[in-house]
Amino acid sequence: MDDHVTLTYQGKSYRLPVIVGTENERGIDILRLRTDTGFITLDPGFANTGACLSSITYMDGEKGILRYRGIPVEELAENSTFKETAYLLINGRLPSEDELRRFSIMLNDHSLVHEDMKTFYQNFPRASHPMGILSSMVNALRSFYPELQATEEEINFTVTRLLAKVRTMAAMSYKISRGHTVVYPRPDLAYSENFLNMMFNTPVKPYEFVREVVRALEVFWILHADHEQNCSTTAVRVVGSGRVNLYAAISAGMSALWGPLHGGANQAVIEMLSEIHRMDGDYRKAIERAKDKADPFRLMGFGHRVYKTYDPRAKIMKRMCDDLLKKLQINDPLLDIAKALEETAMNDAFFRENNLYPNVDFYSGIVLRAIGIPTNMFTVMFAIGRLPGWIAQWKESMDDPQWRISRPRQIYIGPTETHYVPMAERPRS
Ligand code: ACO
Repeated sequence: MDDHVTLTYQGKSYRLPVIVGTENERGIDILRLRTDTGFITLDPGFANTGACLSSITYMDGEKGILRYRGIPVEELAENSTFKETAYLLINGRLPSEDELRRFSIMLNDHSLVHEDMKTFYQNFPRASHPMGILSSMVNALRSFYPELQATEEEINFTVTRLLAKVRTMAAMSYKISRGHTVVYPRPDLAYSENFLNMMFNTPVKPYEFVREVVRALEVFWILHADHEQNCSTTAVRVVGSGRVNLYAAISAGMSALWGPLHGGANQAVIEMLSEIHRMDGDYRKAIERAKDKADPFRLMGFGHRVYKTYDPRAKIMKRMCDDLLKKLQINDPLLDIAKALEETAMNDAFFRENNLYPNVDFYSGIVLRAIGIPTNMFTVMFAIGRLPGWIAQWKESMDDPQWRISRPRQIYIGPTETHYVPMAERPRS
């Protein structure tokens, strides 16, 4: 079928092809727009721009749907592990038992980090944010482990190495920041257990695993594993489009994730809730501030570019938060404040009219606190979870037959041609 839209300007018409996805998402193909018409499009924040065709993640913001490779995130959170979900995202299908076993072995085999990297860690100022450290260290990996990218097997090798090492590097940054001895990964432990052990084991107090804590971490990472063309993933694709090495592209994604409007929101939510707690729990003030257009304050953990209903990840996170705190017999006053704040906001016309619902970050910080993760490590936890998604998106972009370097246009609104004025002739002020 010749499906197209017609653009008419000053009596002249142009036909633009319509692209339809497998879930009937429709887009107008403007690949030849400038060549044929001289026009470009203007879309700040890319809210209406499809940057690629992708078969990794599907989300429907109106219905609250999120699927990785077609599988609903709810099913993965219920039945899968983070390692298996990572395999699914990166390879496009669930692994067989043997494939998963081999993937596990590779993750274990590459989980150590070059000893010389420790000296970098030791020289960061103590107050450095772990996200700054992690993104720098991921970039530095290129110097220690030149990436192999010629064949499919080599790419898989580089990718697995990155997945294995990031977890070790994250735990290492925490240990060094505390002045503790670094704990090395153990081949007998699963992905999440290994991470918890590297974070919390000490020579005097061995870390004791609690099944529900390990599962909560798995689910936390599964829920963060991909989210199609969000800010950090777009950074990975854009930086990667210059054909830079994988480590540099992922490091760019990490830097993008750090911002409080994106992955840094989990830290910002806890800081906001803690502040409310300090102010005698008066959450209504925060709601009033968020509604005040003259005040730049936003309710952290609320709102989303795509979801115009409850974020499906937040639903799972909220339930898990309740269960975990009950199991661990933790009475976290921040959870009570969060729930009261959510209930009040959900009954407020401003939040309803602007479709502002809790997003994944609203309850995730309380889960991480219960696990024992310090607040400044929250976004690092998000980054470990998002890594398979970034890798899958990077791989897809490398194989894209329509690949071109990312290079948007602009509408110039600066001065028209003007001329250089020598200093002596410029007005004094
Ligand atoms: N609190 C108060 N008002 C808000 C909030 C909020 N959390 N979020 C959006 N709004 C308002 C805006 O002020 C705007 O109002 P206006 O049209 O009158 O100016 C309207 O709702 C639309 O908001 P935009 O910023 O245009 O929406 P956008 O899609 O660009 O931004 C974003 C989405 C960045 C997530 C925004 O909702 C926000 O800042 N939320 C708080 C930070 C946060 O939780 N980020 C995590 C997102 S999930 C993730 O990245 C993992």
